[in-house]
Amino acid sequence: MSRIVVRRSAPLAGTVPIGGAKNSVLKLMAATALAEGRYVIHNVPNILDVDCMSELLCSMGMTVERTGDHDLTIDRPADITPEAPYEIVERMRASIVVLGPLLARFGRARVALPGGDDFGPRPIDMHLKGLEQLGATFSFAHGYIEGQADRLTGANILLEYPSVGATENALMASVLAKGVTVIDNAAREPEIADLASFLNRMGAQVLGAGSSTIRVEGVDDLTAVEHTVIPDRIEAATFLAAVGVAGGELTLQGARSDHMDMLIEKLAEMGMRVSPTADGLWAMAPERLRAVDVATLPYPGIATDYKPLFVALLAVADGVGIVTENIFSGRFRYVDELVRMGADVRTDAHHVVVRGRAQLSGAPVRAPDIRAGAALVVAGLRAEGETEVFGAEHIDRGYEGFVAKLAAVGADVTRD
Ligand code: EPU
Repeated sequence: MSRIVVRRSAPLAGTVPIGGAKNSVLKLMAATALAEGRYVIHNVPNILDVDCMSELLCSMGMTVERTGDHDLTIDRPADITPEAPYEIVERMRASIVVLGPLLARFGRARVALPGGDDFGPRPIDMHLKGLEQLGATFSFAHGYIEGQADRLTGANILLEYPSVGATENALMASVLAKGVTVIDNAAREPEIADLASFLNRMGAQVLGAGSSTIRVEGVDDLTAVEHTVIPDRIEAATFLAAVGVAGGELTLQGARSDHMDMLIEKLAEMGMRVSPTADGLWAMAPERLRAVDVATLPYPGIATDYKPLFVALLAVADGVGIVTENIFSGRFRYVDELVRMGADVRTDAHHVVVRGRAQLSGAPVRAPDIRAGAALVVAGLRAEGETEVFGAEHIDRGYEGFVAKLAAVGADVTRD
C-alpha cells in the first residue's frame, strides 16, 4: 500500500496549478460513445480515474491515447460493444454514465451494477427512471443491467432529487432522442454545464444546463469535437483547505472562483481572504481560523466533497463547528482516523461536531476515499510529528501530483 508522509509544516507560500475537473472529464469521455470520429480533450488531469475510464472505452473498442501534456485523443470507430464490464465498474462507479449515451446511440447497453461504497448505499434508481421516461426498458441478470430502446423519445423528466449522475445520463440520452426533453430539478453543478457545452459543440441542442431546467431538442446525428475541460473546483478547494490549516498565502492558477462562491464565503467567515485574480484565485489564511457551521447541499451549496476538508479545517480552528451532511448517508470513516490524530470530533447521524485544537498529533492513518484521503494529508500539515497516510492510491484517483504540488509551496510532505 502506497504511503504519504506529512509533517507539521510552516505557512505555505507560492503558486499551485489547478488541473482539469475529474468529474467533468469522466462524463465527456462517456459522451464520446454518442458519435464516431476523433475527439481531442484538453486539460485532462493525469489521474487514475481517467485511466479507468480510458480502459472502459478501450474495452468497448475505442482507442484512447494521452497526447501532449494534458491532452487525450479518443478515436471512436463506427461500431463499439455497448457494454461496461464488472471489473471496471467495480473500480469506478462513475462508469454508470455510459448507460445513457450507449442506449441513445445503439439502442441497447449492458452495464454491470455498481455496488455501494464508503459513502453508504449508492442507488441508481433515478438514472433508470429518467431513461425509462425516454422509452428505455431494463432487465437485471447476473449482476448486470440490460437496457433496450428502439429510438428514445423526448419526455418531461422530473428528478426526485438533483442527482449529478442521473442528470448526466438523462442529458446524454436525450440529445439523440426524437423530439424535446425537459429535465426538471436537474443538478446545477458546473460539470453539467461543461458536459452540455461539449454536447452542443458536437451538434446537440441543449439549453439551460447549469440551471434547474434543461431543455434538449433531439438531433439525428452528432460529430466528434475538440474541447477544454473546466478546472477542478474540488482540487482547488483542497489547496484552499491546505492553506487554511497551515496558514500562509497561495495563488491557485487556473481555478474559477465563480464555481466556488459559497465555499469562498464560508472560508471568509472563518477568517480567510480569498479573491479572484486574472487567471485564478489568491488566498491568504491567518495563523488560526474561526470555527463555523457548515451544511452540504447540491450545487450551488457547499459540496459534499468539501466536507472532509471542512472537518480538517475545523479540527484546528478556534471554537466549535457542526458539519451537517445532506447528500450521502455514509462518508464518515475518516473521522475515526482524524480522532487518531488527536482531533476532537464526534458524529451523530448526519452531523459532525468538531471542537478545534491548536494542533493535532501525527499518527498512522488510512485514506478511505479520494477526498477524505486528501483531507487527512491536509490535517497532517498541522499535526506535531509525522502523519503517515496509507492507501495513497485513493488520492491518485482524483489528484495529479498532489504531494509534489503541496511540497512546491512549502509543505513538508513526501511519498513512497
Ligand atoms: N441518488 C439516489 N438515486 C440515484 C442517484 C443518486 O438515491 O439514482 C442519491 C445518492 O445516493 C446520493 C445523492 O443522490 O445520496 C447524490 O448523488 P449524485 O447522483 O448527485 O452523485 P453522483 O453523480 O453519484 C457525483 C460525483 C461525486 C459527488 C456527488 C455529489 C462524479 C463522478 N461523482 O456523484 O464526487 O460527491 O456527485 O456532488 O461526478 C468524488 O469526486 O470523489 C465524488 C464522489
